[in-house]
Amino acid sequence: MEVKNKYVSIKANINGAPEESDFEIKVENLSLTVEPESKVVVVKNLFVSIDPYQINRMKSQSSSQTSISYATAITPGEVIDTYGVGRVLVSHRPDFKKGDLVAGLLTWGEYTVVKEGSLLNKLDPSLAFPLSYHVGVFGFSGLAAYGGFFEVCKPKPGEKVFVSAASGSIGHLVGQYAKSLGCYVVGSDGSQEKVNFLKETLGFDDAFNYKQETDLKSALKRCFPQGIDVYFDNVGGKMLEAAVANMNSFSRVTICGVISEYTNASTRAASDVKDIVYKRIRIQGFLAADFMPVYADFLSKTVEYLQDGKLKTMEDISQGVDSIPSAFIGLFNGDNIGKKIVKVADE
Ligand SMILES: NC(=O)c1ccc[n+]([C@@H]2O[C@H](COP(=O)([O-])OP(=O)(O)OC[C@H]3O[C@@H](n4cnc5c(N)ncnc54)[C@H](OP(=O)(O)O)[C@@H]3O)[C@@H](O)[C@H]2O)c1
Repeated sequence: MEVKNKYVSIKANINGAPEESDFEIKVENLSLTVEPESKVVVVKNLFVSIDPYQINRMKSQSSSQTSISYATAITPGEVIDTYGVGRVLVSHRPDFKKGDLVAGLLTWGEYTVVKEGSLLNKLDPSLAFPLSYHVGVFGFSGLAAYGGFFEVCKPKPGEKVFVSAASGSIGHLVGQYAKSLGCYVVGSDGSQEKVNFLKETLGFDDAFNYKQETDLKSALKRCFPQGIDVYFDNVGGKMLEAAVANMNSFSRVTICGVISEYTNASTRAASDVKDIVYKRIRIQGFLAADFMPVYADFLSKTVEYLQDGKLKTMEDISQGVDSIPSAFIGLFNGDNIGKKIVKVADE
């Protein structure tokens, strides 16, 4: 038996800001016949993740492409892999049965042929949360927020924490983890609606719209008159420079990502390194996959916080494979609040 598989690909490498014309929606015939001895699992995709790092995979060249297997270059015309949630359609493996709900490396398309060795886990049906949570708050966004904040920043109650892209998928979780620890938390983002969301819905102590500030160093000085102890950086560029100028002695900066630099390398941060030396600032990058050893702790604490109402997770869900290019482009225009997800099919 065959099905039509609709999927998204890039027409050519993208080296600047992505545009609709860079993408095409393709349709292929996909066989659902799997030999009995094959370890391949065919999955019907339900929810797929939309993430900024994919832009670095779409470039003709980026140092990130040789760092880790899931960041490898995307070939124009081919299917694009991504984290997602789906339902098993065909499997002869004893560990996956038809109808099982799974999370793993799927595709920006309607179906995924998951090869042996590729990331695929059965979902725990006892977790009574929406399926989409397994793409966001229980997926790599949540793990990056938890691990990057607790494991890398080593925060203490009462410390002053700054988060950029604070209304985004990772940022909105980091700020709430920090509040739950008893930190003073300020977020930056790109609109008044988002500023209100951080303060009124998520309980951030303060927030500002970076697009309306003429001097980011002064904006941070205003929000942190006694300096910043922890900066969770999602954007890099000028914001990183301004944060370093406002960091306290023995403070920590964790670099989760540098989205402001992805589509324009000329905006690279040039922080004052003297500040890093004399204030003994520790700056560390990470990849979410580094925190797989603490996944069980992360999941149990996050489930507990969600159940207690200490943590709210926001999702921004678009419908259908055709919406994937605009959903992705929207990340670079600040269109999303919370985790950007595309719902590909009904559960
Ligand atoms: N290290 C890891 O393992 C890991 C894992 C996942 C993601 N990341 C990184 O973490 C960061 C956040 O990812 P996410 O998935 O949570 O995305 P996200 O924050 O949900 O979405 C991106 C947001 O970034 C902001 N933005 C876009 N262009 C910007 C610019 N030029 N300057 C400042 N802000 C800009 C926009 O919000 P505004 O309205 O605020 O502009 C946009 O909504 C990204 O840098 C991503 O690459 C790292």
